[in-house]
Amino acid sequence: MIDLRSDTVTRPTDAMRRAMYEAETGDDVYGEDPTVNRLEAEVAELTGFPAALYVPSGSMANQLAVYAAIRSGDEVWTHVDSHVSIDEQGGVAVLARGQLRTFTGPGPAPSTEWLEDGLRERHDIHRAPPRLISLENTFGGTVVPVAEQRRVADFARANGLLVHLDGARLWNAATALGLTPAETARGADSLAVCFSKGLGAPVGSALCGGADTIARARRARKLLGGGMRQAGVIAAGALYALRHHRGRLADDHRRARALAEGIAELPGLSVDLAAVHTNMVFVGVPRGRTDAYLAAFREHGVAAGASYGGAIRLVTHLDLGDADITAAVDAIAKAAAALA
Ligand SMILES: Cc1ncc(COP(=O)(O)O)c(C=O)c1O
Repeated sequence: MIDLRSDTVTRPTDAMRRAMYEAETGDDVYGEDPTVNRLEAEVAELTGFPAALYVPSGSMANQLAVYAAIRSGDEVWTHVDSHVSIDEQGGVAVLARGQLRTFTGPGPAPSTEWLEDGLRERHDIHRAPPRLISLENTFGGTVVPVAEQRRVADFARANGLLVHLDGARLWNAATALGLTPAETARGADSLAVCFSKGLGAPVGSALCGGADTIARARRARKLLGGGMRQAGVIAAGALYALRHHRGRLADDHRRARALAEGIAELPGLSVDLAAVHTNMVFVGVPRGRTDAYLAAFREHGVAAGASYGGAIRLVTHLDLGDADITAAVDAIAKAAAALA
């Protein structure tokens, strides 16, 4: 089976497993795990933030960022389709007791008009106080131009708001933009990054931010049961991925493009090639037929996932080579022909 469901399905490489086997460890709740400390220092340095915190998942990194930034009843602004909005079980309301106010397209960042409208009545007694804008880059595999992010960050700074960036795939964005991770994240007050997606580590993410944000997040991580002990064993996999796997993300992007181009002409399927910026391809299928297509793909040896609006999502990753992409296009062509 060629598994294109997500870039989270990768297995640790032999070299990564060796790094994990040999990891120096200590009790990270006491701050004594040297490998976790090294990972946190390296990721902070690389992303241009004063501090970082290793956490089990991207969802926890995002939720800790919100928890650290807002007070109960504050408003968090985010895209209606962002992970924070729809894929974290309403965590903003459940954990930080904040309220979401969502914007829609055309792009993944809010327009200046939308931002201004949101602030217009901020002192009205009826309103929840706006506090945090949460952006995402990459967003559905597309890259958010840094100028857009900085426009929002400048607006936030001028108006006393904070910006969080869900950079679960910041590494892919930086690769596609030809910028460093720090340049790609600039302007954000906090940043979530994942090691377990494009980078191929088995576990973990990090929240990056200022010293106060990270201190608050460290307490909240413990509150949520996320204080880990000899976490160096898994942090070593993340550290290995951070050091060795960023440089190969361009291969994933090239393969996603080849996949998209191979599928675009097939009967019954559609792909917006202009939206393929990194490692994700969204395939449109006739309305109501997503499950039938997913089943046919699987029958022909390709695992894929359903996405928003009934599209099928295909994601390239570390465990796939050029031959897998060729084979996947052949298999999808057969599935499409069978259903046409
Ligand atoms: C954009 C984005 N943010 C956050 C997450 C959450 O990461 P995790 O699954 O590690 O909680 C994901 C997961 O795929 C994601 O795609």
